[in-house]
Amino acid sequence: MKDSYYITTPIYYANDVLHIGHTYTTVAADIITRWKKNSVNNVFFLTGSDEHGSKICEAAKEKNKEPLAYCNEIVDSFKNTWQQLNIEYTSFIRTTDTVHILTVEKFIQALYDNGDIYKSNYEGLYCVPCEKFLSPTELVNDLCPDHNTKPVKQCEENYFFRLSKYRDQLIELITNKNHLQHFDILPEQRRNEVLGKLKLGLDDISISRTNLPWAIPLPFDKSQTIYVWIDALLNYISAIGYADDSEKTQFKKFWPADVHLLAKDILWFHSVIWPAMLLALKLPLPAKVFSHGFFTVEGQKMSKTIGNVLHAEDLVKIYGVDATRFLLLTAFPFGSDGDISLALFKEKYNAHLANNIGNFVSRVTNMAQKYFNGKVTIPENWPDPEITEILKILEPADTHISNVRVDSFIEIMISLSSWGNLYIDKNAPWQLAKTDMKALEKVLYNALIIIKYIAVLSSAVMPESAVKIWKTIDEKQDIQECARNLAKLSPLTGSNVNKPEILFPKIL
Ligand code: MSP
Repeated sequence: MKDSYYITTPIYYANDVLHIGHTYTTVAADIITRWKKNSVNNVFFLTGSDEHGSKICEAAKEKNKEPLAYCNEIVDSFKNTWQQLNIEYTSFIRTTDTVHILTVEKFIQALYDNGDIYKSNYEGLYCVPCEKFLSPTELVNDLCPDHNTKPVKQCEENYFFRLSKYRDQLIELITNKNHLQHFDILPEQRRNEVLGKLKLGLDDISISRTNLPWAIPLPFDKSQTIYVWIDALLNYISAIGYADDSEKTQFKKFWPADVHLLAKDILWFHSVIWPAMLLALKLPLPAKVFSHGFFTVEGQKMSKTIGNVLHAEDLVKIYGVDATRFLLLTAFPFGSDGDISLALFKEKYNAHLANNIGNFVSRVTNMAQKYFNGKVTIPENWPDPEITEILKILEPADTHISNVRVDSFIEIMISLSSWGNLYIDKNAPWQLAKTDMKALEKVLYNALIIIKYIAVLSSAVMPESAVKIWKTIDEKQDIQECARNLAKLSPLTGSNVNKPEILFPKIL
């Protein structure tokens, strides 16, 4: 079995600071990475910045800066945001890194040598914010439907990639689940959309520009530069040493990627253009592309003009880092589109974190202190069937992560806590304290076990809270070891339940 796991986010445009759309994808990738690290020795989580092209050029010009100087500032802000959100990426690739530029040159030259690139005339309507040509049928009132801007007419002699040549092979690899090289596009609805479009036909694409200096020159014709999307897609292999000829490259260890995570706005590039480029050089395709939902804010697309752009930092100020990570990923199902609002975040925060998980940890540990001075011992014949039964809920945790269903994974944590609160209500420890201390000790022990497993799942989603809970219940077991062995229930290993810190204070 492959003892490595490779997950990527899109590399975000360095034209502006990040907003919560970008945070959404990156936090999801971080949760998956943290959980995978429990059982896989080599996990590589890649993110980065997309720095070439007209969009960046224009943004830099507006600020009176050179593109690279401008990108350096934006990249610092990206890294800062990721640090604030506790994102533990393995590597941050910039398309201006030398290693990336060398990879792009090597790859494009190989495509050219292969006969997959040719020269032809091109006329089309180019949308700068999308960094792509739009067909007249895609326009709404002559405007780009995503950006409400007028695309610019471009007419030039460009180099083309023979994309159409790979159409049939792609359809076969996407549809045939038994194929060794099966390429999965998830969720299924998105796969069907891509297949539907592919079946209508596929044109070759222009991969160079004549008048755009802020880009990588074509290695075989320096008068033209490489189309920013072709440049950007190659980050997934440049970051792991594709251009490095030595034997022991990361490329051998990590390619093909296990999952490219992104949203529907860029699915076509990842599910058609990128795999076709790989097929052209006979490289294996990534195992899957997962397109999560796209969200609107209070019913509207986030936009600077409307003034409704939310930044993760705004949420962190109100809720803290852990809760922000949790709230983003529970706002709506992971594969579907949805709407978010500050009111919804507040409601979910209070319902799931303050009143459910936070309250459960606090009431149980307080009672352990009050009735047993923190020393709750293991009951006879433990685990009892009730606990074994409820903890079966942990069984699909690994599968949810492998299927990129971060929301379902988090749902387990919420359900465990809801069950725990009901268990306490039902058993009324305050009554037992008057009549049966042994029964009371058993109830509290079981509740502490539930807390232990909530912390184990939290270690991927809310890492700081997981550590706090672990300390409160005085756990000695290694949390990763516990996560690796979810199927084998482990008892409490500490001997002194501490006074809890308030994990998630209620927000009014
Ligand atoms: N630079 C390209 C990607 C190149 S990858 C080889 C790009 N960058 S981007 O900055 O525009 O980022 C797009 C990605 O940001 C989406 O695919 C998604 O991952 C995330 N999101 C941006 N806005 C979003 C929402 N409103 N909702 C959900 N995700 C969003 O495209």
